[in-house]
Amino acid sequence: MSAATDSFEAWIRSAFRQMNTELENLYFAQADRANVDGVGDPIKKALTDEGLALIRPLVAEGNTNEGFERTFGTLGNLGMFFAALRRHELTNPAREHKSPFDDASALGMHIGASLGVVPRFANVHLNHHNRAVDGLPKSFTTLVDEKIFNDYNTFSILCYQRAGDALARIPALGISNPAAALLLADARAALDEVFKYNELLFQKLNPDRFFYCVRPYFKPYRVGRQEYRGANAGDFSAINEIDLLLGLCRGNDPYYSQLLVDKMLYLTPEDQARLRGCLTHRPLLSEFVDAIAASAKQDWFKTNAPLFLDVCAAHGRAAAQHHDRLVNTFIVRKTLELEQRHMAQITASGPPLPVLIKALEKLRDLRLAAPSQEFETAHGEIARLKEALGRA
Ligand code: HEM
Repeated sequence: MSAATDSFEAWIRSAFRQMNTELENLYFAQADRANVDGVGDPIKKALTDEGLALIRPLVAEGNTNEGFERTFGTLGNLGMFFAALRRHELTNPAREHKSPFDDASALGMHIGASLGVVPRFANVHLNHHNRAVDGLPKSFTTLVDEKIFNDYNTFSILCYQRAGDALARIPALGISNPAAALLLADARAALDEVFKYNELLFQKLNPDRFFYCVRPYFKPYRVGRQEYRGANAGDFSAINEIDLLLGLCRGNDPYYSQLLVDKMLYLTPEDQARLRGCLTHRPLLSEFVDAIAASAKQDWFKTNAPLFLDVCAAHGRAAAQHHDRLVNTFIVRKTLELEQRHMAQITASGPPLPVLIKALEKLRDLRLAAPSQEFETAHGEIARLKEALGRA
């Protein structure tokens, strides 16, 4: 790594983390915990000045082609700095037409364009591409609740990736292959682990600390002229690979394909390629339904189709848990407590909360293959498969 990259990285892992923590503790001690105005101003100034001074030599260097991980890591460091400035209201896209930090924006856009990703911090920088040093991955603060959120989010993502890997191997083998049974069982076990880790997250995370001291770092901000939506725990491809491979969500559904297009550049190039690959496979659900007429009485069908249904059920169960437990407890209920003046931009992605919640409910219902009058789900096809197995 260049000396400038090293110094910035060392600062992100030390003074930056410390200053954010001090500010969080000051905000949290107030009667109105959501207020940041006029609190800790000398710390905010030091954070801005120190960060910009370390970024200046990096801008002069540009993208020095130090390999993907390092360059992507520098983008993450820069993005974490921007996200902190946004969190402490030192920048706000609602009152600016362009980022006030020209040089830092230029570096972000240079790296983002060269790697083919958004020029901002994405959640991946805090989880599956977050290198630990001496047991400590990067984080905004030293608060235990941020650690809990990042750790359990990472565990959950890794389990989704295991499920996605297993399912992605089935199209080449075919649904009647005895090996497909093994892969379906692996996918089911991995999704059960997602459920387990999300449940632990639910139990361990303090709703107040999460809402007031962790979530605010995930807001939208501008890089150059463009405003980029906030990062969120879902910025990885495996969950969508699972949706598409199973056939619970479809690439030709306008709602779902819009979501994929919006998400694409928040993913690593590797995740982008995986997602593109899944968009070309025929969904497993369609394959099983097509096989009913000729093969419902065959042994392979009686073995593999129930395993497939179990994977779908496990995916739906984790989606319902995300919405009904995590989103509801840590976002919706906490938002109801907020004073009206803090309501703007409460969500990471920007839309008003009721709009966001409706969109998340739709995703939950697609993954649950729930019956719906409003939009098409896989409910009918899943019911046909269950009927063929005598499970209806
Ligand atoms: C305290 C815990 C969590 C809360 C409050 C939460 C809340 C949210 C919210 C509000 C969104 C919508 C994006 C936005 O804000 O603009 C979202 C998206 C998402 N979250 Fe979470 N989340 C949590 C944990 C997790 C975990 C552990 C995972 C598992 C990897 C996860 C996976 C996703 C996914 C995949 C999306 C994108 C939409 C989708 O495909 O379902 N979240 N989350």
